[in-house]
Amino acid sequence: SAVRLADYRPPEYLIDTISLTIALDPTETRVTAEMAIRRNNGTPRNAPLRLDGDELSLQSVRIDGKRLSGDAYHATPDLLTITAPPEGAFTLTVETLVDPTANTQLMGLYRSSGNYCTQCEAEGFRRITYFLDRPDVLAVYTTRIEAKKDDAPILLANGNLTDSGDLPDGRHYAVWNDPFPKPSYLFAMVAGSLGVVEDEFTTQSGRKVDLKIYVEPGKEPRCAYAMDALKRSMTWDEEAFGREYDLDIFMIVAVSDFNMGAMENKGLNVFNDRYILADPQTATDQDYANIEAVIAHEYFHNWTGNRITCRDWFQLCLKEGLTVFRDQEFSSDQRSRAVKRISDVRLLKSHQFAEDAGPLAHPVRPNTYKEINNFYTATVYEKGAELIRMLKTLLGPEGFRAGMDLYFELHDGEAVTVEDFLAAFADATGTDLSQFMLWYEQAGTPALAVTSAFDATAEKLTLTFEQSCPPTPGQPVKKPMHIPVRFGLVGPDGQDLSYGAVAGATVTGDTIHVVDERHRVTFSGVKAPPVPSLLRGFSAPVKLVGGLTTGEFGFLAGHDSDPFNRWQAIQNLAMGLLTETTAAAHAGKPVPSDDSFLDAMGAIASDTGLDPAFRALALQLPGETDIARDIGEDVDPDAIATARNALRSAIGTALGDIFRSLYDTLADSGPYSPDADAAGRRALRNVALDYLLAAGGEAAEARARDHYFGADNMTDRLAAMTSLVHAAAPAAREALTDFHDRFAGDPLVIDKWFAVQAAAPFAGTLSKVEELTTHTAFSWSNPNRVRSLIGVFATGNPTQFNRADGAGFEFIANAVLKLDRSNPQVAARLLSAFRSWRALEPERRERAEAALRQVAATTPLSADVQDIVSRSLD
Ligand code: ARG
Ligand code: ZN
Repeated sequence: SAVRLADYRPPEYLIDTISLTIALDPTETRVTAEMAIRRNNGTPRNAPLRLDGDELSLQSVRIDGKRLSGDAYHATPDLLTITAPPEGAFTLTVETLVDPTANTQLMGLYRSSGNYCTQCEAEGFRRITYFLDRPDVLAVYTTRIEAKKDDAPILLANGNLTDSGDLPDGRHYAVWNDPFPKPSYLFAMVAGSLGVVEDEFTTQSGRKVDLKIYVEPGKEPRCAYAMDALKRSMTWDEEAFGREYDLDIFMIVAVSDFNMGAMENKGLNVFNDRYILADPQTATDQDYANIEAVIAHEYFHNWTGNRITCRDWFQLCLKEGLTVFRDQEFSSDQRSRAVKRISDVRLLKSHQFAEDAGPLAHPVRPNTYKEINNFYTATVYEKGAELIRMLKTLLGPEGFRAGMDLYFELHDGEAVTVEDFLAAFADATGTDLSQFMLWYEQAGTPALAVTSAFDATAEKLTLTFEQSCPPTPGQPVKKPMHIPVRFGLVGPDGQDLSYGAVAGATVTGDTIHVVDERHRVTFSGVKAPPVPSLLRGFSAPVKLVGGLTTGEFGFLAGHDSDPFNRWQAIQNLAMGLLTETTAAAHAGKPVPSDDSFLDAMGAIASDTGLDPAFRALALQLPGETDIARDIGEDVDPDAIATARNALRSAIGTALGDIFRSLYDTLADSGPYSPDADAAGRRALRNVALDYLLAAGGEAAEARARDHYFGADNMTDRLAAMTSLVHAAAPAAREALTDFHDRFAGDPLVIDKWFAVQAAAPFAGTLSKVEELTTHTAFSWSNPNRVRSLIGVFATGNPTQFNRADGAGFEFIANAVLKLDRSNPQVAARLLSAFRSWRALEPERRERAEAALRQVAATTPLSADVQDIVSRSLD
C-alpha cells in the first residue's frame, strides 16, 4: 500500500490540545489521552474520525466524558474509528495499555537500560495512543507522568515543568507543558534513574535557559564536550540565522538503545549515547566532531523542523536537508571550512551517489513511499543539504539570508512544503526558482560533460557543457536542471586569470549557470592558456566528466587556489590510475605504478604550507567502493583491493622518508585536545604510520606497536590498532587483546573493537564475525552493536561482504531476517547494503540476487524489509 504525494488531503479533524497521563509500568503502562478535537473547514458533519494506532490495546473511549457504546466506535490495534462524532468541538478521551518492555522495535514507548524513553518520528506516537499521527496536525501537549519513585526518580517530557509531587504507594508524578503547538512526531517523555549535568545559557534577548544533559549515572564526566557544543550551537544560530531558543529549559537525554543518531523532540532531545559521551581515552577526534555536529543538528531543528514543520512526510528534506546544511555550516565555522567541505563531499559521494546509482534511488522529495522509515536516507539528508547550498550559491549570502528570514516570518507555527520554502526565497529575492525545483523532483546524479577550447590568438576560451541524468526507478527521462558551476581560470603561475566579455551562458561572480542540456560559454580577453578549475567547492552534486588531462589535474593538484578542487584533482588522478590498475589486476596482469602520481603525493605530504588535516585527506586514496562506483559495471572487488593495496604500498615505499619524518615531527607534546588543529596533526601522523605499515617491514611494525601501547588517547590507539590489523602485522593480535581487556565493560568502545575486526579484509573475517556474534558484549537487540559488527562487515568490508562464494551475502541476508523479527528498521537499513549489487561481475551478482530472493521469499516480512527487498530486485 503505497502513499502518494499527489493524494495529500488536509486532515478532516484537528486536535488543538492533548493532555496525556502516562502511568508507567514495565509491561502495562496505562496511557490516557484527552484530546480537544474539532472538524476542519470543509469536512462534512459527522464524518467518521479515524485515529491511527499501532499494536495498541484499547481500554475505553469517552466523548465529552461519556463512555461510548460499542456501536459508536470500532477499534483494532491499528485504527480507532469514531463512527459519527459530534458536529461541534468535543473532547475525546482514550485509554490504552502498552508494553514498553516488549517493544523491541524501539519506536513508541520502550525501555533502554531500565529507563523509559520514546521515539515518535516518523510514526511512533501511534504506538502510544490513538491519534491523528501526521505532521500537519499541531497540538499543545500537556504530559503527566506517574511512576514508582524508586524505579524512575527522574520524569521528563517536552516543554516546561508545571507541577510535580508524591503519590500513594511510593509513586510520584510530574506534569510538563509545551506551549508550542507541535506534530505528534516531536512528542517525547523519558523516565528513570539518570545522572545530570547542568549549565545555563543566556540568549541574545536576555532569556535565561537551563541546560541539562541526562545520562546513565556515572557517565556525567563524559558530557562536557556535548554541553560545550550545545552552547556554541545556541550562539551560532543567533549569529548566523538570528534564531533564538524559545523555552526556559533545554534537555538532552542519552540512551544506549536507539535506532538512529538522535531526535529533535521539542525541548527534550533524545540521543544515541555515542553522540554524547566523550573523553580522550574513549572517543576519537572523529567522535568529537560527530558529537559537535549532531548536537548542533538536533538543536537547529528547533527552528527548522519544530517551529516550522513538514506538511507531510514527502517533505522530510524540508527539515532534514536544511538542518544538515545548517550543521555543516556550523562545523565549518568552528573548524576548517575546506576540510569540512572535503569530508562532507566524500560522505556525499560514498553514500548518496551510491544510492542514486542503484535500485534504491529516489528524489530528494520522493513522490511515493511504502515505508517512510526507509526514506531517512543520504539522498534526503545529504543531497538535500547540497540543494540548500546551491540555493545559497544562486542567491548569494544576502539573498539567502533574506529568504530564510522571510521563511521564518511567514511560516512560524505552520506545517509547510518545499514549494512554500522555495517561494520565500523567490519572493525575497525576485528570482524564478521553478527550474531549481527539479532538483527536488528528479532522482539520479546528473553527469556534466565538459570540453574546453582555447584560441590563443583570439584570447578566447570556450567551455561547452552537456548535462544528462541517468534513468532512475520510475523516472526514465529527465529535464535539464540549473547547475551552478563555480569556477576559476587558473593561469600558468597558479593565479586565477582575469577575463573580459562573456558570451553564451550566464556568469555571475565566480559562477557559470548551466541551465540547458547543451550550454556554451566563451570568455574573451584570456591572456594566457588557462586550466579551467570547475565545480569549485563542489558547487553542485553532479559528476563532472572530462575536460582535463592528467597533466592539467596534476597542475591543479599543486596550484588551484580552491582547496576543494586541489583535493578533487588528486582524487581524479588517483581514480584514473586505480581504474587502470584494477583492470590489470582483474586480467591477472601485474599492477603498474606511476611515478608522477607518487611525486604529486610526495609534494602534498611534504608541503608544510598546507594544513595537516588537508594533507591527511589528500593523501587518502579513494575508497574501494568509490572505485567500484567509478568503474560502474562488472565490478570485481578483489581486483579493486589488489590494485588499491599495490598503490598504497608503492606510496609507502616511495615516500618512506617523508612519512618517517612526518611521524616524528608531528608527535604531540601537550595534553590531548580535540580541537581541529590538534586533530589534523594526529590525522596526518596516523596516515603516515598507515602508509609505513602498508610498505611493510619490521621497523614499521615496531613503530605501530609502540604507537598503540604509547597512545594517551583513543584516536592514536585506534588508528594504530586498525593499521596493525589491516596490515596483518604480528602485533595485531596483541593489540586486539589489550584493547579488549582495557575497555571491557564500555560498550561504545567495544563497538570500535568489533568494527575493526569486521572490516578486516581477509578470508577469515566472516567466520570471525560469526564467532563475535556470540561474544558476551554483543547483542542483536542493540542497534549500535549490530551496526558495529554486522553493519560494518556489510558496508565497510567490500571484499568480504562481496565474497565470490556468496557467503558474505548469505550471512547478511540471514542477519536481516533474524533482526526483522525484533527491529524492522535496523533490519531494513542493513539490507540496503545490497544497493549496488547489480554493478557486480556476473558470478557475484547472481549470488547477491539469490540472497535477496531468499529474503523476499520469507514470510512474514516487515513492511520495512519488504519495501527494500522489492525495490532492490525491481
Ligand atoms: N529527525 C531525526 C534527525 O535527523 C531522525 C529521526 C529518524 N528516526 C526514525 N525512526 N526514522 O535528527
Ligand atoms: Zn535531522
